[in-house]
Amino acid sequence: MLCVKYYVECMTHDTLHMTQDCHMKEKIRALKEKAGAEITAAAGQREILESLRIKYLGRKGEISEIFKGISSVAPEDKAEVGGLLNELKISVTNALEGSLAASSAGTSAAKNRIDVTLPGIPARLGKLHPITQTINRISEIFIGLGFRVVDGPEIETEHYNFETLNIPLEHPSRDAFDTFYLESLGGKNLLRSHTSPVQARFMEKNKPPFSIIVPGKVYRPDATDASHSFMFHQVEGLCVGKEIHFSDLKGCLETFAKEMFGSSTKMRLRPSFFPFTEPSAEVDISCIICSGASDPAPEARDDRVFQRNAQIKRCGVCGGKGWLEILGAGMVNPKVFEKVGYDPKKVTGFAFGMGVERIAMLKHGINDIRMFYENDERFLRQF
Ligand code: DAH
Repeated sequence: MLCVKYYVECMTHDTLHMTQDCHMKEKIRALKEKAGAEITAAAGQREILESLRIKYLGRKGEISEIFKGISSVAPEDKAEVGGLLNELKISVTNALEGSLAASSAGTSAAKNRIDVTLPGIPARLGKLHPITQTINRISEIFIGLGFRVVDGPEIETEHYNFETLNIPLEHPSRDAFDTFYLESLGGKNLLRSHTSPVQARFMEKNKPPFSIIVPGKVYRPDATDASHSFMFHQVEGLCVGKEIHFSDLKGCLETFAKEMFGSSTKMRLRPSFFPFTEPSAEVDISCIICSGASDPAPEARDDRVFQRNAQIKRCGVCGGKGWLEILGAGMVNPKVFEKVGYDPKKVTGFAFGMGVERIAMLKHGINDIRMFYENDERFLRQF
């Protein structure tokens, strides 16, 4: 009896274990199938894949839950069930990682793909500096009048900067305060204080007749303010030949003034002095804003400066004088010809020199020379 009871109890216990273990294996198989299907369905969807990772592999996830049931597995089945569970965990982990990697590769591939239909990114094009533009315009006008463009060195000698131009030792511009001397070069070299030295340099190497202009940088030790800079630009002009008269100078400069500032521009000459010209003159043009009255020239009516000054009674550009000085000029001094070996009885000529910044400032209504050198794009883009 006892024996029978024991047998029954044992049997019941074993059968119970058997059914439980079968159930566990079934559960593992079903979970593997379900997870596999869900992972496949979520391909490429990172967020869903991430939530599946938590659902299956998280600390409270479905696989961990089954792991907890391993304690009730019959000892002889534990190794098998444990192996199956590990297999399940590895296969879900691999499937998820594979799918996540594929989805991020897809995203970066999509990101890196070039859409050839998108509009291009415009290249930021630079522009010529307003000073270069002004030099080009001045050159264009004089080239039209038969001049050609030449240049010369910015580091000059006293000989060319002064002596060949008949500037005597006691002339104030020879004073060290007016010229940058280059001590490292023995103090005899300097930064040219005007473009006039190219006159002698050119004449020494060329025979008349010729007409040249010389644009370039010049240097003066001036304190910087709204109208002074230690470096600025000039355009020198020189025309030499037989029978070149003062009227040629006048006609040439008047044509330049009208081309540069508009056809209604008037020009006047005032007697002046330069050691290298005789006679010499300062050249003025009628104010491009008020034309010498409060009435602006037709082409200046839309000008920004005119509009800015419209409320002010006195013209802000010429100060009410009606005239603006634009350059210095004159007939080449015979002494200059002698210094370069020309016979002043056989040739005559005229010369002129203008400040490029001044011309550009007048032309565009700029009231501070420093703006040219600050490289502020908001300023430069306007030209
Ligand atoms: N060199 C003069 C200056 O820098 C400008 C000048 C005046 C040049 C008269 C000339 C001229 O050729 O004839 O102030």
